[in-house]
Amino acid sequence: MAAGAIGVTCAKLGEAEVMAQGGVLDTLIANLIVGPKKVARLVELRRIADPVVCVDHIDQAAAFSAAMSQAGLALRVIVEVDIGLGRVGVAAGESAVALARRIHELPGLTLAGIMGYEGHLLTLEDGDEKADKIQAALKVLTGTADQLRKAGLPCDIVSCGGTGSFKYAVRAPGITEIQAGGGMFMDAFYRHGCHISDWKYALTVLTTVVSRPAPDRAIIDAGRKTMDGWVHKPLVFGRDDIQVQSLSAEHGSLKLEPSAQNLRIGDRLEIIPGYSDLTCVLHDNFLAFRGDKLEAVWPLEGRGRLQ
Ligand SMILES: Cc1ncc(COP(=O)(O)O)c(C=O)c1O
Repeated sequence: MAAGAIGVTCAKLGEAEVMAQGGVLDTLIANLIVGPKKVARLVELRRIADPVVCVDHIDQAAAFSAAMSQAGLALRVIVEVDIGLGRVGVAAGESAVALARRIHELPGLTLAGIMGYEGHLLTLEDGDEKADKIQAALKVLTGTADQLRKAGLPCDIVSCGGTGSFKYAVRAPGITEIQAGGGMFMDAFYRHGCHISDWKYALTVLTTVVSRPAPDRAIIDAGRKTMDGWVHKPLVFGRDDIQVQSLSAEHGSLKLEPSAQNLRIGDRLEIIPGYSDLTCVLHDNFLAFRGDKLEAVWPLEGRGRLQ
């Protein structure tokens, strides 16, 4: 926020609660919140912060409206539109406008805009094709925003984007905010799955070689309980001559090229996770280094706040 962000995107209500406790009051919960207990927590969150929530059906909005108006509060709501991902979201165009109109009429809610996520286009290899398809998907979103405004409905927020599409989404006219997050760490998926070349790796897992069962194999003390290897295979930081072969729950198996076969039990290796998102949730703290100096220990207070 100090560097200029207008707010913070969260994936869960529990994360937005952590943000509010830390003084970040303008959050977008880019997910659907359903159930009376969660709605009651959302009311409590609204008393101390100004979150934005998304909906893709009137049933979600009606529950927010009843709870907020009973509490004498108003909650900002945006409509989630399916721009091709095929996950959640109301259809673009008239269906989105119709849902927005109903939300606008409900007490206790403030219609604030729309969002969409072009997550199906992150891994396209050809840069031109990726740029074209992302621009086309985002035109569906901004076109729907225009339809809302033409219908006399407010649409200040037009939100989209993630790390894998960020560089195209920031150039799209009519987009007001970007939801990218994991890119601050970089990881193997962003680099090799999403073809993002210009950011440095900032997140590694420090591991120890615990076994050397064969000249070309080393075993480290980190497996699936320590880092993600499902979205993408992890990489060994600074070592092109060592590949992560496989992960089991507690062990990582490395394939060693001849130049790496002097590796010994007790040696340390930094591993770049396959996917930072699914790695952070496994750890209690970040150890923040500047060069070789440990400068801070940051607890992951949002960890486990999955509801
Ligand atoms: C709705 C939504 N927005 C944005 C993102 C992008 O997140 P990141 O930049 O961490 O990849 C995601 C990723 O899953 C998402 O589901």
